[in-house]
Amino acid sequence: MQRIKRFNERVSVALKSAGRIFKKTKLKAIPPSPPPRPLPKGYKIVERYPLYEPFAHAAIARNPVTGEYKYVLDELRLDILERNVYDRILEILLAEIASPETEIEDPRQFFVTEAEKIVGKYRISLGWLPDVSWSKILYYAQRNLVGFGKIDALMRDQNIEDISCDGVERPVYVWHRRYENLETNLIFHDDQEVDDAVVKLVHMAGKHVSSAFPIVDASLPGKHRLAVCYRREVTPFGTAFTIRKFRDDPYSIIDLIKLGTLSEEMAAYFWICLENRASLMVLGGTASGKTTFLNAVACLIKPGSKIITIEETAELNLPHENWISLIARRSYGLGENLTGEVTLFDLVKTSMRHRPDLIVVGEIRGSEAYTLFQALATGHGGMATMHADSIDSAVKRLIQKPMDIAPAYMPLMNVVASIQRVHLPQSKAGEMSAYRRILSVDEIADYEDYRNTFTWKASGDMHVSNLKNGIMLNVITERSGLSWNELMAEMKRRENVLRWMRQRNIRSYRDVTGVITEYSAKPEEFYEKEVLADAPAKNS
Ligand SMILES: Nc1ncnc2c1ncn2[C@@H]1O[C@H](COP(=O)(O)OP(=O)(O)OP(=O)(O)O)[C@@H](O)[C@H]1O
Ligand SMILES: [Mg+2]
Repeated sequence: MQRIKRFNERVSVALKSAGRIFKKTKLKAIPPSPPPRPLPKGYKIVERYPLYEPFAHAAIARNPVTGEYKYVLDELRLDILERNVYDRILEILLAEIASPETEIEDPRQFFVTEAEKIVGKYRISLGWLPDVSWSKILYYAQRNLVGFGKIDALMRDQNIEDISCDGVERPVYVWHRRYENLETNLIFHDDQEVDDAVVKLVHMAGKHVSSAFPIVDASLPGKHRLAVCYRREVTPFGTAFTIRKFRDDPYSIIDLIKLGTLSEEMAAYFWICLENRASLMVLGGTASGKTTFLNAVACLIKPGSKIITIEETAELNLPHENWISLIARRSYGLGENLTGEVTLFDLVKTSMRHRPDLIVVGEIRGSEAYTLFQALATGHGGMATMHADSIDSAVKRLIQKPMDIAPAYMPLMNVVASIQRVHLPQSKAGEMSAYRRILSVDEIADYEDYRNTFTWKASGDMHVSNLKNGIMLNVITERSGLSWNELMAEMKRRENVLRWMRQRNIRSYRDVTGVITEYSAKPEEFYEKEVLADAPAKNS
């Protein structure tokens, strides 16, 4: 209900914001069709797929000489007549569409239904146009008023991970799952156009951007992460933005196993460690998959645990009922007067008063790390990601300002997983070439005493374990009274449960959590009745 309400608010904010921009610039501010540049000279299309039939398609073009790839967004265009009607109907739609009064599931669908009714009313007075033209006009109205504007079609491309605009008169770039960084044929031609587009995006995220506050991090509807540098205040090239697209269907731990990011044995190890309140830190470079991994591994947290997530922009999405999500807030004061600011540090501090079993910090960068370690010291479980390329460099940063954690506190972070984007030797261009792999899992026994438990071997693309090297499982045997062999048998059983899920394609976030819950409640019974009884799983 709350979510729907937020959607409703966002539709009206998007409409209002688009309306203001529209009126301010006398009908020309929301160009209905971008003038996409023709296919670059010498390029040939190697792949074409629909983004939104029949209006938008993506084409991947390749220069056979240089081997370079480009992304061509191919949208149906409006002719002059359609464009004129579009301009007039847009004005009518803005005046006549009221914000939804009842709860609606899908704001876009709401807009389309209302717009169709209004178009029906004015259709004749606006001059005759075939149905095809009207659907194109409505497509552009939807795209520009309640959608993401010029980049709307890109937002529909499941292959795109990031969309970035580096400034005015510079091509928009995308990060494509199969072709990596690609220049697109989209360009914002002047400051006004990109500024308006960004103001609208920021308003859709329920935030404010201006020359006084030119840096914004926000979460767009659909949980896409938006980062903005507005106007030429902080960048000489004009407004720049980057969107990290959120998958409609987030990767679960089973998806990551299928993708080869981690092995079933490793997932079983994390399952046992997390159940025993081990703390976990995920390290990696930009876009290496830290947040995705953290989110996926969270499926393995004991059902019923009270979890508090703390982030700068909302990215984590947990299936647990007993979950509080806290998001930091910027201040709109100037200079020293940062009234109203709520930092990650404040949130970690306050979270301890909510009696969490587990505190998850989206990304640690500053003094909140210190508070997180304090929380670990007082017996809370903790998980976090950190931008670092190795355990050594992470620990070096943790012990320096502003994190300032005493080296003696280091073993409070029990397990460290390092994730990276890797290129596999056999990958060819056009096939998915960038893969994410957990390169190593280490346990922190003491400051500068790290025990490696898993390593990824590039040759053979496999994970090799060395569990005896670690200390965590020994600690668990001591605490639980299980012998090493008994604990290994339990781990094997969980590995089989994970394999059984993979083979039965039980992969969605909710389904995986459902199995984990059932297994936690009655491990033996569930294992015998479901996993062992299932012949294909047994034979593999
Ligand atoms: N294991 C994986 N396999 C394939 N794609 C992945 C995997 N993990 C993440 N991705 C994709 O990579 C992109 C970046 O992922 P994510 O946001 O988790 O990275 P990050 O390391 O948290 O980035 P940042 O440093 O910007 O916070 C997303 O589009 C996500 O869908
Ligand atoms: Mg992240």
